[in-house]
Amino acid sequence: MPNIIGLSGSLRRASFNAMLLRAASQVAPAGVAVEIGSIRGIPLYDGDVEAAEGIPNTVQELKAKIAAADGLLIVTPEYNNSIPGVLKNAIDWLSRPSEDIAKVFGGRPVAVIGTTPGQGGTALAQTAWLPVLRTLGTAPWFGGRMMVSSADDTFDGEGKMTDEKTKRRLAVFMEGFAAFVSERHR
Ligand code: FNR
Repeated sequence: MPNIIGLSGSLRRASFNAMLLRAASQVAPAGVAVEIGSIRGIPLYDGDVEAAEGIPNTVQELKAKIAAADGLLIVTPEYNNSIPGVLKNAIDWLSRPSEDIAKVFGGRPVAVIGTTPGQGGTALAQTAWLPVLRTLGTAPWFGGRMMVSSADDTFDGEGKMTDEKTKRRLAVFMEGFAAFVSERHR
């Protein structure tokens, strides 16, 4: 059974992007598991720490999970029309040492989605991820787009996606990404 690991790029307890990731895992087609990973606990990248102590355990564990997954779903907030620092920092640590990039990211199917209370749907943040995905040698999936605007009207107070139209769009997106992942998994 193909498995996808999802990472939300927000540490906020009431993160809309974490809600979107949970909703994505719930609407994923039967036979596809979406594990909810976490970037919590990853320190700020510091080359001196890496040289002295090596790769932190939180990073090692997440690297192993991504390497074992058939696909990676990045759920990105948008900060100042670009990538949020905490998520970029996590990906930067996950790309160390560079000899492991091929094992962790190389040829790995990746999809990027995101949500914002604003109207841009994280389009600019999603676009800002493209050079990173290319540099890491991933296999990005471009067969669908999932930009979720008006997050506060899309989820309820308990974090459930209540907007049915968005839920249907998300299900179609996940079906397409899962098919891409399954195709490469064979
Ligand atoms: C934001 N936000 C934001 N939203 C947006 O659509 N475009 C943007 O450029 C920005 N810029 C921005 C910068 C900074 C520093 C913060 C803290 C926030 C709003 C952002 O989308 C909102 O806080 C989301 O709720 C963040 O995602 P989570 O934490 O809910 O997943």
